[in-house]
Amino acid sequence: MASRVEQFPEWIQVDGKWKRKSDHFRRNISMENFSVDSVLDALHLNLDALQDIQGRMHSDMVKGLGAASNKAAVVKMFPTYVRSLPDGSENGDFFALDLGGSNFRVLLVKLRDGNVEMKSKVYKIATEIMTGTGENLFNYIADCLAEFKKEQGLEGKDLPLGFTFSFPCRQNGLNSASLVTWTKGFSATGVVDQDVAKLLSEACKRRNVNLDIIAVVNDTTGTLMSCAHADSNCYVGLIIGTGTNACYMEALDEVELWNGDKGEPKQTIINMEWGAFGDDGSIEDIRTDFDRELDKITLNQGKQLYEKMISGMYLGEISRQAILKLAKEKLLFNGVVSAELQKPWAFESKFLTDIEKDVSTDGLVCREILRQLNCRDTMEDVTVVRAICSAVSTRAAKLVTAGLAAVIKKMGRKTLTIGVDGSLYKYHPRFHPLMDTFTRELVPEARVKYMLSEDGSGKGAALIAAVAVRLTGK
Ligand code: GLC
Repeated sequence: MASRVEQFPEWIQVDGKWKRKSDHFRRNISMENFSVDSVLDALHLNLDALQDIQGRMHSDMVKGLGAASNKAAVVKMFPTYVRSLPDGSENGDFFALDLGGSNFRVLLVKLRDGNVEMKSKVYKIATEIMTGTGENLFNYIADCLAEFKKEQGLEGKDLPLGFTFSFPCRQNGLNSASLVTWTKGFSATGVVDQDVAKLLSEACKRRNVNLDIIAVVNDTTGTLMSCAHADSNCYVGLIIGTGTNACYMEALDEVELWNGDKGEPKQTIINMEWGAFGDDGSIEDIRTDFDRELDKITLNQGKQLYEKMISGMYLGEISRQAILKLAKEKLLFNGVVSAELQKPWAFESKFLTDIEKDVSTDGLVCREILRQLNCRDTMEDVTVVRAICSAVSTRAAKLVTAGLAAVIKKMGRKTLTIGVDGSLYKYHPRFHPLMDTFTRELVPEARVKYMLSEDGSGKGAALIAAVAVRLTGK
């Protein structure tokens, strides 16, 4: 295996060129090589490890789909009740709401024979709303919908609405879903175990806003639907943004949990909620001290452990933890950590994207960021911080691909398109190429294409509402 493992070295950019980390560090860093390397090595995953992770994800998928085993499963594999993909014949005007991070969006989506026209408005969700009462959260959503309708001259209009609510939900049907637990920094009270469609309807009633909810949808499902609208070979939806998650089309025979209609089409989209992979201790061997330190300062400690190694909300903080460790060993900043960098979350995930986009020899962007954080920025410091960012994001791309490899193998398709959305995937310069490379390594038998979804969550929710309207002739 050694030679194959070598195909997964850690890469860093030096003089605008990619170099193997180990070569670079052995030659160029005039400090205790072993210690810098040991931090980076802790973040390294070789091909054997990835194949192993893929196998564990596969077992967890099977466990989640099993009627008897689901209760104990951490990867919940929720059936979505979305069973048909768009066929291009969906028509009409729809509203969509998209809640899943610190921004909330309201959209007006016009579907015309395969063409999509959208108008949307973004509303900021303040931390107080994310962590306050459920009533306030849903009142705020209703207020935003009312404002948007007014601006579009559609006040009082009752268009069918798709609600993208990107948190783990047990679907009770297409237009009813109960929140299982909050993720991604939300903790609004009185929402867990409640039907979020009902909470939204009640808030709209309080605010006198008309509402016709056709579907409650996860962002992964929205992404799959919006990509399937453009590419009929798309059967997987993936998000790598604030959080991470995947969904795919599964045969009903495989879904022991299924208690809906067993007729054609004998398939349903499964919202995996794979962010919780590892919450039963199954990935402790690959978690590092940096991951554990990060977990301690999150609202949902011990939860969403796979997500916390991958998604945009966390990569900056993992990097900060690694930086602190090296500084403590006097291998960075001469051992002095600025007050700014001591603050949790001070090293934003966006910095990783910006730093890795910069291919200049002297890492001007990294230098500027370190300056903003009031840190020493010698050439060595800059090189080490860039290497840390690269190691953290490479590990994330590897882990996502290992999870996807399990999905691809489970589906057994030889060619497949995966629809992807999320800021980390969109803006990070190496995420997509790394995923391409690792996919070829892990599933050489399949031809996999990644397709960037333009506005998957919003458009997808409208498409789901449209398919439902088409199928039921409502
Ligand atoms: C979190 C949510 C999940 C969502 C993902 C991406 O993992 O629990 O529902 O799909 O973030 O937004």
